[in-house]
Amino acid sequence: MNSVIRIALQKSGRLSEDSYQLFKECGIRFDYGTGKLKSVSSNFPAEFLFLRDDDIPGYVEDGVADLGIVGENVAVETARNVRTIHKMGFSKCRLSIAIPRGETWSGIQQLQHKNIATSYPRLLGNYLAGEGVQANIHEISGSVEIAPSIGLAEAVCDIVSSGSTLLSNGLKEVEVIFRSEAILVGAQTISDEKQALIDKLLFRIKAVQAAKN
Ligand code: PRP
Ligand code: ZN
Ligand code: MG
Repeated sequence: MNSVIRIALQKSGRLSEDSYQLFKECGIRFDYGTGKLKSVSSNFPAEFLFLRDDDIPGYVEDGVADLGIVGENVAVETARNVRTIHKMGFSKCRLSIAIPRGETWSGIQQLQHKNIATSYPRLLGNYLAGEGVQANIHEISGSVEIAPSIGLAEAVCDIVSSGSTLLSNGLKEVEVIFRSEAILVGAQTISDEKQALIDKLLFRIKAVQAAKN
C-alpha cells in the first residue's frame, strides 16, 4: 500500500517553469532541469516524468502517468480520454489565426479555399466548419510560423502567448479561435490510495492558489 503517484510535466516549454514552481510552492521537492527525464520526490510519494507536452494526454489515458499538467489546447487537440481535475491558472495563451503583417483582414471568409498551416488540425477544423469555411489544413508539428514566408500557406493557426514569435516572423494575429491555460488532467479510473494522494496534492495546490489571490 505504498502508492506513489506519477506526474507528467512538460520537459521544456511554456508550461515547464510554472509547473515546477507550483510544486515547489506546494513544498514538494524533486530534481528539475538536470536533464534527467524522471525524478522521485524526496518528501512526497510522487514521481515526476518530463515529457513532450503533446504526449502527456496519451500517457495519462494509458495509465503510464496518473496525472499530467498540459495546456487545455493540447488536451482538446489530442482528444484523449482523460479527466480535467483542476484549472491551474497559469500558462494562459490563445490559439489564433495569423497572416502576413502587410495583408488586410476582412474576416474568416477570406480563408475560403486557402492553405493554413497548424499543429492544431482538430481545433482549427472544428472552428472553420462552424464558420462555414472550407480550407486546406496543412498539419506541421513545429515552426508553423515559417509557413507563409516559404510559400506553404497563406495563414497559420498557432499558439500565441507574448506575441513575440509572430512578430519576429512578420505575422499579425487576426482571429482568436480558442483560449487556453494549463490544466491538471488525470486518468478516468484510479485506485483509492492514489486518489487519496491526489486529494492531498489538490489541497496544497488550492492553498497556494488562494494565497496568491
Ligand atoms: C507556442 C507556439 C510558439 C510560441 C508562441 O509553442 O508554437 O512557438 O508558443 O509564444 P509567444 O507568443 O510568446 O512567442 P508552445 O509553447 O506551445 O510549444 P510547442 O509548440 O513546442 O509544444
Ligand atoms: Zn508541444
Ligand atoms: Mg511551438
